[in-house]
Amino acid sequence: MGVNLSGRSFLKLLDFTTEEIEYLLALSKNLKDLKRTGTPHRYLEGKNVVLLFQKDSTRTRCAFEVGAMDLGMGVTYLGPSGSQMGKKESIEDTARVLGRMYDGIEFRGFLQSDVEELAAKSGVPVWNGLTDMWHPTQMLADILTVQENFNYDIKGRTLVFMGDAKNNVARSLMVICAKLGVNFRACGPRECWPADDVVEACKPIAAQNGCTILLTDDPVEGMTGADVVYTDVWVSMGEPDEVWAERIAQLTPYRVTEKLMALTAEDSIFLHCLPSFHDTNTTIGADIAKRFGVTEMEVEDAVFESRKSKVMDEAENRMHTIKAVMYATLK
Ligand code: CP
Ligand code: NVA
Repeated sequence: MGVNLSGRSFLKLLDFTTEEIEYLLALSKNLKDLKRTGTPHRYLEGKNVVLLFQKDSTRTRCAFEVGAMDLGMGVTYLGPSGSQMGKKESIEDTARVLGRMYDGIEFRGFLQSDVEELAAKSGVPVWNGLTDMWHPTQMLADILTVQENFNYDIKGRTLVFMGDAKNNVARSLMVICAKLGVNFRACGPRECWPADDVVEACKPIAAQNGCTILLTDDPVEGMTGADVVYTDVWVSMGEPDEVWAERIAQLTPYRVTEKLMALTAEDSIFLHCLPSFHDTNTTIGADIAKRFGVTEMEVEDAVFESRKSKVMDEAENRMHTIKAVMYATLK
């Protein structure tokens, strides 16, 4: 039987089979081809979606907005302030109201339990645009980018996540790698390894799909022979400013440097979900440079700007993949 995701929510990748994830990736590629050739694809004309953001965003918001508009849908954006949600109105009541007006709901916020509740109570598909625990739409863009660079043959390749490997992005990467047969390495200090429950959930999935999961605190072991090198900010949204000092001390050995990149496979690529602190051209970057004397954090500017860096393709792919998720679940 073919894959049918109509009416489903997209809350975390553990809820999806390998076949369903591969279907979403293939659909993303098709939608990208349509966009590239200027072929209209207003398949969801007459539908409307609402985007709820408790945290800031550039890529995720724009990907949902452009993706929805390309599909012919109307879009409402509700930002961190301005709606009643959370202050005067519970998540449950918000879900029930929005479900009466919209065909789908995107949520970026602090708690995974909130996006789960929206899905349970709204009666329409809900898409997780990032929570404390997961960032599932990001993964589709990441893997599409990996596919594009390795001729759509990614099984048996090795992806290493360098740095804060307990965060939402690293956890999600471990799941999608396990589901798609890509070897996954989490490389960082032990305090920053992914939680045991996620590792235990992923191990049997990886075994079933013929790939491995490795946790290491040795940057040389992590990087040697890797096909894909991935990193993310050292302090995620929602974490207190006070953790910067500790993270800089813990994670500096795991910065993606040209020296470490030299250990990777000949045709390796560098990915980052973005935004990235690869220079001091941001207010936070400049502040960290002033306070700690660190001018590049999770990745050296030379790597970020190198031939191996595919971060802008990856950012573009957010749009094609998010469009695929909306189309697959709303059609
Ligand atoms: N990668 C990502 O989610 O970016 P934004 O925070 O800009 O949405
Ligand atoms: N781990 C980061 C990802 C940003 C896209 C955060 O949660 O802030």
